[in-house]
Amino acid sequence: MKMTHKFHPISPKLPVLMHGADYNPDQWLHNPQVLEEDIRLMKLAGCNVMAIGIFAWAALEPAEGTFTFEWMDRILNTFAENGIYAWLSTPSGARPAWMSERYPEVRRVEANRVRNLHGIRHNHCFTSPIYREKTAIINTKLAERYGNHPAVIGWHISNEFGGDCHCAYCQDAFREWLQQKYGSLEALNAAWWTSFWAHTITDWSQVESPAPHGEYMVHGHNLDWRRFVTDQTVNFCKHEIDVVRGSNPALPVTTNMHLIEGLDYRKFAEILDVISWDAYPTWHEGQNDSQLGASIAFYHDLFRSLKKKPFLLMESTPSLTNWQSVSKLKQPGMHRLSSLQAVAHGSDSVQYFQWRKSRGSSEKFHGAVVDHCGHEYTRVFKDVAELGATLSNISEVIGTTTPSDTAILFDWDNRWAVKDAQGPRNMGIHYEETILAHHQAFWEQGVPVDVIGSEDDLSSYKLIVAPMLYLCREETGRKLERFVEQGGTLVTTYWSGIVNEHDLCHLGGFPGPLRKTLGIWAEEIEGLYDHDRNGLSMSIDNQLGLTGTFESHEICELIHTEGAEVLGVYTDSFYAGQPALTVNRFGKGKAYHMATRLKADFLQAFYSKLIEQTGVARVMNSYLPQGVTVQVRTDTSTEYVFIMNFSGQTQHISLDDRDYTLLESNETVNGVIDLPVNGIVLLKRPAKEV
Ligand code: GLA
Ligand code: ZN
Repeated sequence: MKMTHKFHPISPKLPVLMHGADYNPDQWLHNPQVLEEDIRLMKLAGCNVMAIGIFAWAALEPAEGTFTFEWMDRILNTFAENGIYAWLSTPSGARPAWMSERYPEVRRVEANRVRNLHGIRHNHCFTSPIYREKTAIINTKLAERYGNHPAVIGWHISNEFGGDCHCAYCQDAFREWLQQKYGSLEALNAAWWTSFWAHTITDWSQVESPAPHGEYMVHGHNLDWRRFVTDQTVNFCKHEIDVVRGSNPALPVTTNMHLIEGLDYRKFAEILDVISWDAYPTWHEGQNDSQLGASIAFYHDLFRSLKKKPFLLMESTPSLTNWQSVSKLKQPGMHRLSSLQAVAHGSDSVQYFQWRKSRGSSEKFHGAVVDHCGHEYTRVFKDVAELGATLSNISEVIGTTTPSDTAILFDWDNRWAVKDAQGPRNMGIHYEETILAHHQAFWEQGVPVDVIGSEDDLSSYKLIVAPMLYLCREETGRKLERFVEQGGTLVTTYWSGIVNEHDLCHLGGFPGPLRKTLGIWAEEIEGLYDHDRNGLSMSIDNQLGLTGTFESHEICELIHTEGAEVLGVYTDSFYAGQPALTVNRFGKGKAYHMATRLKADFLQAFYSKLIEQTGVARVMNSYLPQGVTVQVRTDTSTEYVFIMNFSGQTQHISLDDRDYTLLESNETVNGVIDLPVNGIVLLKRPAKEV
């Protein structure tokens, strides 16, 4: 038997897979019967955890300095009596009206410099001393009262941090942040290239945050503002954490993340014990769910990779949302498939928004475990309860995680910069779509992928794909060079190595710091209209063994080789015959470059060859039809294998020759596995001896 290695359960109090929801008893305090019924239904649904108190500030502090914790006492005590645990939330995601009224400074100022009125949520100033003070007071009270409560397993800090504030406090903080970073106005002016359009700054007081009616075209400025907003939000989050940690430092801390583009979540990883995120895919939008399934897989991979350990699916809908343009129901099987997909990628929980539908206001039609009918005899409740039963059967997977020797490089500042730049294709540079397309090629093959940043350690990977690495620091260039030199395989695309960390172009020839590693010089780049096409014609006897032509679109970069070998050339335009796909042998490794945007057919074919050549691990040595994928989690002794069908059709998968058993029943399986539409099969097998 091999040694096992897995992470400790997120909470020692609840060493099983967590299953539950956001719970808002504060909306039902007038109706104690509902609260009683909730407990019965939670047990019936196999729920063991609730995120509580998320927007409860007005119920906890109805007037300034007046605290009403009795209802929370009752709920948490009842939880403890019934084996239900709580992620206790700090309430800073929305504030009571008295605070906005008495202290207008807590209300966020938008980029147009207009201060918000009181209302909605997620719209406070993270710099405001009063907001920080009020948050610290309520958090201290919560921590003192509940930090050692038997039902409480951890802190859920605020809710989906996001957005920016442009008030006077924030302007001052931004200026200070810049002074710290640059030290002098000369350095700031140089970094922002302010000699352009006479934008030279001669006094720190002239610096303002970007504004739609002011400055928004200085790319270095925009980039620094976004970095500042991340730092300021992390700083606020840390302010909250420092307070709650006081009462019981052992309680784990998380904050729920979402697809919020404006925050570099990698910067939060250090201050959190566990990453959690909220996933709301629009299932059944397209012809089938393959592409969407792959894109959600990417985000699970991203959130797992932030700490390279199990994360939490903090929110998902048990049925539909009410804020997407069309709210489709989850078809039979999809609840189980999409929930266990999160587990397959490393989640140790399946949690929902929301436990019970509210009776009024904007989310009253958002899916919930308990509908307005109030009982358990619904399709959704049944799906949730069945999943609860499955989760309780497979708790042995907690703490296990997914080893991968393949990584996709995805930096937030690159993402911001590449989309901010006015360049080859302002009608859509499609950065995220490109990242997702490359990731999908691995997903289709059942190859586990980490999603890393350029500051991460690269040494454990065999293959790194860095699509559109437009913002590439000199040090990132050197790091990737070393990676290839030491035997790694790197794949890059057009529009890489263009600017440095200040969004200043690399001089002396693109792709700047990647030029030597790739053995190419990129002289020009052109954007294509949506209706334009070019193509890649594979060279005869190319070392990948690919033949024929592949359609390309949107972006064509005109490159010259400087040591790289040409694997394929353009089919059209005045540059037909010029290199479109190259490989450079460098040190012990190889660096590939795609000069044009190629489609899924090419990415599939190309990465299949690379997977073979580099020997990166596929979970299963079996043919996977389009839309069917396999993921693995391991404790290094046992591997947990999840076969998932997003193809919209019935599928049959031939297992490879490893020894499989069904995870839930332990029955031996071999041969062909049948997967219904939206089907998922959970298997286990002994890990290979190394
Ligand atoms: C977000 C929020 C929740 C809720 C859901 C609805 O994720 O965190 O409070 O509004 O969206 O889908
Ligand atoms: Zn502010």
